[in-house]
Amino acid sequence: MDYRVADLTLADFGRLEIKLAEHEMPGLMAMREQFGESKPLTGARIAGSIHMTTQTAVLIETLVALGAEVRWASCNIFSTQDQAAAAVVVGDGTPEAPAGSPVFAWKGETLEEYWEQTLEILRWPDGKLANMILDDGGDATLLVHRAVEAVKTGQVPQAEDDDPEELHVIIALIKRTLEEDVDWLAIGNAIQGVTEETTTGVHRLYEMFRGDQLLFPAINVNDSVTKSKFDNKYGTRHSLIDGLNRATDVLIGGKTVLVCGYGDVGKGCAEALRGQGARVIVTEVDPICALQAAMDGFQVTTLEEALPLVDIFVTATGCLGVITADQMGRMKNQAIVANIGHFDNEIDMAGLAKRPDATRVRIKPQVDQWVFDGGTDGERSVIVLSEGRLMNLGNATGHPSFVMSNSFTNQVLAQIELYTKPQEYPVGVYTLPKHLDEAVARLHLDALGVKLTELTDKQADYLGVPTTGPFKSDQYRY
Ligand code: NAI
Repeated sequence: MDYRVADLTLADFGRLEIKLAEHEMPGLMAMREQFGESKPLTGARIAGSIHMTTQTAVLIETLVALGAEVRWASCNIFSTQDQAAAAVVVGDGTPEAPAGSPVFAWKGETLEEYWEQTLEILRWPDGKLANMILDDGGDATLLVHRAVEAVKTGQVPQAEDDDPEELHVIIALIKRTLEEDVDWLAIGNAIQGVTEETTTGVHRLYEMFRGDQLLFPAINVNDSVTKSKFDNKYGTRHSLIDGLNRATDVLIGGKTVLVCGYGDVGKGCAEALRGQGARVIVTEVDPICALQAAMDGFQVTTLEEALPLVDIFVTATGCLGVITADQMGRMKNQAIVANIGHFDNEIDMAGLAKRPDATRVRIKPQVDQWVFDGGTDGERSVIVLSEGRLMNLGNATGHPSFVMSNSFTNQVLAQIELYTKPQEYPVGVYTLPKHLDEAVARLHLDALGVKLTELTDKQADYLGVPTTGPFKSDQYRY
């Protein structure tokens, strides 16, 4: 088996953590029970690009239990838990003779290494190609689309000097693979569909579909209610604080914290910070979300107005350029700057690095103090977490298992849908039907001791819904 991880001797530790996680992931374990015999994913070769955490290890081993072969990379350079990666590779073998699934991920990849691993997951050593993608943020999907477009148009995309470094890296990779005669058309044609995990990746899919560029059908897993209203909100409610604590251990109570964006992630962040006793201020562009934040009791203002007051900045927008390099230079000394949105472009890290008066002092991996005026005494500085990349996975271990069980059960169901019913999904972007969303929730009730009330026939008639659901229309917003 080919693979690339940090250290296979971490596998025993990784396995112990996976066993604990399995207990907290009833949805995925139910998938194994329900589909372990029939193996609906037999023949599926899944290229997975999602944070290589302990929870993802349980997902990978569930997909394999359902018949799939997988090759896995992380979707972020800092988010891999090396022990989980090692355990997946070793499987029930030994570090000397691993017998699990190939993983290409380690904590602290360079951008070049990151994109090389994304290429690795698309091709099997025996010449076979991936026929499904499981994506988070859309990088694997983007690589295939960019490369196929380059072949079809005969034009390799160009990057300007002031384009982000990442674009230069992707373009260099595509150029190299074209010189090596990698058959991108065959790779694109082989893929039957993609299931996408997050808001930002889903955004990209709808844009490609609208622009007539989408090459294969996609299921938007993010907008299953049991994904975005749980993982994005309750997951970040847990892992934002975890990231702040592990990175800085600064007392949050009494501090003024700015949360940029009051969508699902921003709501979870603001609630968690308030729970710690922080004074929370919110920025929003959407009047509905701004009004929600105000009615939830948060002050809503602009970043410029709040800037002099704020001790901790958290971006949760999925937008770019939310905090500028100039603004970082005007923050309180040792203000913490953290991004929990998918990409690192929410905070202008490139602009910060270019400031002639800014010097980076590494406190520890994924925690940097940027000192202004070239001094090292820290009199005027900001503390940036995970180099502006998602800090709950870079500085901590991401969301806990129970909430990820909801998200990943949706992923498994979406993979089964797309792989087993290709005729029902022409190229487009779909969400899972509501009865499956409700089924995912149902799988997580017992573990929390939830007792559901059942509708009588008369009540169901009155509401106009079946006694067994679905209970809401597709328009209902939860
Ligand atoms: P969302 O669309 O529900 O919320 C984003 C909010 O930000 C919206 O209400 C929007 O109006 C607001 N916004 C956009 N531009 C803004 C700006 N310039 N200033 C202030 N507010 C602005 O999206 P969601 O689901 O909350 O996701 C946000 C980001 O977090 C996405 O990139 C998503 O992929 C990522 N994500 C990260 C997770 C993690 O574990 N770190 C988990 C789930 C999602």
